[in-house]
Amino acid sequence: MGKQPPLPFHVNADQPRPSSQTVAASCHQRLPAFWAVRKSFTAHKRRFPLNLKTGQLIPNFMDQDEDQKLEPGRNVGNHDDLNMDSQVTRTSEATVFFPFHQNNHSGQFECPPSQYCKQDLFPKWHLPVKIASILSLLTFLYTLLRDVIHPFVTAHENVFYKIPILIINKVLPGVSITLLALVYLPGILAAGFQLYHGTKYKRFPQWLDRWMLSRKQFGLLSFFLAAMHACYSLCYPMRRSYRYKLLNWAYQQVKQKRENAWIEHDVWRMEIYVSVGILGLALLAILAITSIPSVSHSLTWREFHHIQSKMGYLALLLCTVHASVFAWNKWVDIKQFVWYTPPTFMIVVFLPIVVLICKSILLFPCLRKKIEKIRCGWDANTETNETPVSSRL
Ligand code: HEM
Repeated sequence: MGKQPPLPFHVNADQPRPSSQTVAASCHQRLPAFWAVRKSFTAHKRRFPLNLKTGQLIPNFMDQDEDQKLEPGRNVGNHDDLNMDSQVTRTSEATVFFPFHQNNHSGQFECPPSQYCKQDLFPKWHLPVKIASILSLLTFLYTLLRDVIHPFVTAHENVFYKIPILIINKVLPGVSITLLALVYLPGILAAGFQLYHGTKYKRFPQWLDRWMLSRKQFGLLSFFLAAMHACYSLCYPMRRSYRYKLLNWAYQQVKQKRENAWIEHDVWRMEIYVSVGILGLALLAILAITSIPSVSHSLTWREFHHIQSKMGYLALLLCTVHASVFAWNKWVDIKQFVWYTPPTFMIVVFLPIVVLICKSILLFPCLRKKIEKIRCGWDANTETNETPVSSRL
């Protein structure tokens, strides 16, 4: 298979290498015109550093398309991280960009109102929102069946009051943690793809390409749902149903002549999972804040990478631990399998655990070194080190 020349805008090998059409398409369709003009100006004006080390995982909330790559104001800081050999000038593309985006920019104001209304709203959010909505609906129906319909059918117990808070508060964290896993899964698949083909110059399949470009939106949605979950959880003790239950438990305790209701392991379980949940949410907040362009542009590439990649995986780990500790001994409690269905926490932690295991495997020195080599330009098909991009053009 012939080796394709590297594309100048493929700064992050964890991301798909956009074709010139992809770059053009995402620039003029997805990005605000303001960005597009600034980017094309930079691409045109100076030789653009292509970071081959960025092949390292940045499965993150960062704008996976050209936002970060072409931003002129971005402080790349540590030049150790930049492969100067790979600095390239794609003047042909750059010159096409500049007038194109200028036209596009001014075109917005000339656009007749009828056409302006037809413009797609939030195009980058379509896929993530669709997936989040489908997941929410499925989780809601599943939880409703297990927690409300089952007691109603088997014991004629009316617990429909659970729907507004208790059921919703299972849907929110379930979908949130799944979306968080979906932020990191494509990076793992991309690494597997590159390892399998032994090169970074083979294009990712289109679905993976699209998925990678939506990771920021997946991450932000995950944070949003996690924040709602925290609010719902913290309001548990305020509910009237909770107060009645507490009174009933107290009464029964008196009837049983039990003085102390303290259950040591249950106390520890709650202290740990709430604390870990708060830490997880705090990390997600940092990730969300650093994905704001004005913040991310004030960081060096290495700082940004550390936050988005390392902290991101840590957040995923904490959230998984949070859900697992919440489950505690329910993992081995057969009564949890209502109508032979596993509880939601078992289902929702499955994907994050798979992602974390795969990530740990990729960190084995033999695989990590091979990925690093591939992302520095090594190609298994030619088994030669890549010649500097600039000298090949
Ligand atoms: C301030 C932070 C947080 C607090 C106070 C908190 C609190 C809770 C509480 C009270 C539960 C038990 C809910 C129940 O009884 O049904 C729970 C479960 C759960 N939480 Fe959190 N949480 C926090 C953050 C997070 C975050 C950031 C995530 C991940 C995105 C998360 C994911 C989960 C999951 C998956 C469950 C299991 C839900 C189930 O029953 O299926 N939580 N959390």
